Amino acid sequence: MKVAVVGATGMVGEVMLKVLEERNFPITELLLVASERSVGKKLTYKNNEYTVIGLADAVAAKPQIAIFSAGGDTSVEWAPKFAEAGTTVVDNSSAWRMDPTKKLVVPEINANTLTKEDKIIANPNCSTIQMVMALAPLHKKYKMKRVIVSTYQSVSGTGVKAVKQLENEIAGIDGEMAYPYPIGRNALPHCDVFLENGYTKEEMKLAREPQKIFNDKTFSVTATAVRIPTAGGHSESVNVEFESDFDLADVRKMLHETSGVVVQDNTDTNTYPMPIYAHDKDEVFVGRIRRDETQPNTLNMWIVADNLRKGAATNTIQIAEYLVENNLV
Ligand SMILES: NC(=O)c1ccc[n+]([C@@H]2O[C@H](COP(=O)([O-])OP(=O)(O)OC[C@H]3O[C@@H](n4cnc5c(N)ncnc54)[C@H](OP(=O)(O)O)[C@@H]3O)[C@@H](O)[C@H]2O)c1
Repeated sequence: MKVAVVGATGMVGEVMLKVLEERNFPITELLLVASERSVGKKLTYKNNEYTVIGLADAVAAKPQIAIFSAGGDTSVEWAPKFAEAGTTVVDNSSAWRMDPTKKLVVPEINANTLTKEDKIIANPNCSTIQMVMALAPLHKKYKMKRVIVSTYQSVSGTGVKAVKQLENEIAGIDGEMAYPYPIGRNALPHCDVFLENGYTKEEMKLAREPQKIFNDKTFSVTATAVRIPTAGGHSESVNVEFESDFDLADVRKMLHETSGVVVQDNTDTNTYPMPIYAHDKDEVFVGRIRRDETQPNTLNMWIVADNLRKGAATNTIQIAEYLVENNLV
């Protein structure tokens, strides 16, 4: 496969290269792409040095697959140009996620909807991916009615500038700010921009994307997204009301048997998911599984994943793998 990685110099891009290498993705030619600022820069993949190129050169090279993580504006402008040249784009930005003509894919859940005609495929938001991974088997059996999620999101979810802000604050350096307030020793109930309805864009992604991924509008999701001073890994407190009652042991068993999900749940040994353990792992970790005692058919869970891995790079590359394995590119 001739593969282009667009946004190769960014936080997600760096993890993309690592994951492509780890999974030995079948690459015959690799194009590393970034903004004009980075053209000519050298990056390494599998011990070989590559020179970063610009978007126009990458389109002209007609790769079979282009993996995008270069922000929404770049995707809106360039993904259609790649698609026109015959390239299949898997995009990490929010640009195409809710476009009714584009698929929003978590491979374990709905990769089977992909066809050769899908030339721009959207990767869901990082917080959505880890939540739906745990909800999918439970929704299938017990049917969700309503989900209430509160997130505890790391600064790496914002990109390089935010990680630098936290590092600067810890080192006592007065530097550039990615957030309107200090993030160290703080919690900002503010991920992405505020919308007219009082929610943030991140909160509305959590509300809308699961319905599209499950192709089901019979349940609803309400969210509060909070940025906390962890370097990497997003955590979520998730409360789910089901239509039918469940058996807790069965819930644990189903999650345990779900590919890509790991149950870490033993209060006797203080075993529960934490971002430091999820770091650099591809799985979604679920713990604190317990019945909500205030109303029937309702479950509480704590879900953690590495936002740069399953929340971004790993999910994207799993989509690309599915396309290759099923001759869809
Ligand atoms: N961080 C996460 O957890 C996460 C999770 C899921 C999805 N995403 C999405 O992935 C994308 C990248 O996020 P990130 O955290 O990696 O950001 P980042 O660290 O700021 O990196 C941005 C990347 O995009 C490139 N870029 C920016 N403007 C460009 C342009 N006009 N043309 C070509 N390339 C351009 C940058 O190239 P230069 O180095 O040349 O500027 C860099 O490679 C965003 O759309 C984000 O929403 C992020």
